Amino acid sequence: MKIGIFSFREYEEPFLKLAFDKLKGIKVVTQSAALNAQTIALAHGCEACCCFVSDDLSQTVIEGLAKAGVKLIALRSAGFNHVDIEAAKKAGITVMRVPAYSPYAVAEFAVGLILALNRKYHRAYAHVQEHNFSLNGLMGFDLHGKTVGVVGTGKIGRAFARIMLGFGCHVLATDIEHDPELVKLGVSYVTLESLYQHADIISLHCPLYDKTKHLINKKAIASMKDGVMLINTSRGGLIHTAALIDGLKSGKIGYLGLDVYEEEEHLFFRDLSNTVIHDDVYLRLQTFPNVMLTGHQAFFTAEAMTRIYQTTADNVRAYSTGALGTVADNMVV
Ligand code: NAI
Repeated sequence: MKIGIFSFREYEEPFLKLAFDKLKGIKVVTQSAALNAQTIALAHGCEACCCFVSDDLSQTVIEGLAKAGVKLIALRSAGFNHVDIEAAKKAGITVMRVPAYSPYAVAEFAVGLILALNRKYHRAYAHVQEHNFSLNGLMGFDLHGKTVGVVGTGKIGRAFARIMLGFGCHVLATDIEHDPELVKLGVSYVTLESLYQHADIISLHCPLYDKTKHLINKKAIASMKDGVMLINTSRGGLIHTAALIDGLKSGKIGYLGLDVYEEEEHLFFRDLSNTVIHDDVYLRLQTFPNVMLTGHQAFFTAEAMTRIYQTTADNVRAYSTGALGTVADNMVV
């Protein structure tokens, strides 16, 4: 079986080798190109495609893949909001994912954004490099005693909540399902509305789907505390970006940390440092001194990369040997 790996980067090579070298009968072809309507031809002759969050898996592309003979899409991600599930079902393409690789990687990164925004490490570093040792503009606040709201207490939200409890924060959470272990540790489940009203810091850890699209909108922001800190390491589409910019301009949002952005597929995972950026909304976000933006790197640790490739290899092996039952939790379609 031949598998085409799209959006492949040099830093993935050792993890790919470690996981796939021992797989018998699987030929791997890597492509640095992202999968989209223009690059479907690269999948010709491949029974499987391995895709990342930056690949286009819309109806048109899935239909094109089916025509090219692709039968399996193995996602190198947990999120699958970028896949047209109905189109995959219709085309008879199996879709698998990596549901868990390192919740700690993302949770710890979210905490890093909180610390950096609060204590302004990035600005302090730049000042000190210029021998400016003045403390003007660097004042933060104690995290101890503050109220943190966690939206979604699955694998990542749970790890995040535990860290924040360690800082001595009061942790409020909202989720469809309540985690009794977190309750035992002192987390209080409340309604989303109550979380918005009481949290000094809000961190998003729920998936993006119809119900959660633009969860953070004008109305939600208006109901938050003045000067709230908002952190999103989940998916860009959870936030209505124009409402966010209004919230920053009015001062309602005091701090913003984003690792994901609704229109990120036009920007992230490539070096655009010599390119004119046409996304004026993103550029506006960059102008605020109290905003920290990163390019979807929260997952990016050696442990997470190892698990991503190992689970992907397990998925491909299970598919090629007809043992899908052994990886049932990884099945999307
Ligand atoms: P998970 O499936 O373990 O947890 C998601 C939780 O959200 C579940 O407990 C679920 O019940 C809850 N939920 C669903 N709808 C909700 C709603 N309307 N309101 C409140 N809670 C709701 O997923 P996991 O592994 O914790 O990942 C969370 C998200 O993080 C993923 O969906 C993905 O989008 C994002 N992610 C981001 C990464 C990055 O590098 N920035 C890397 C990995 C995941």
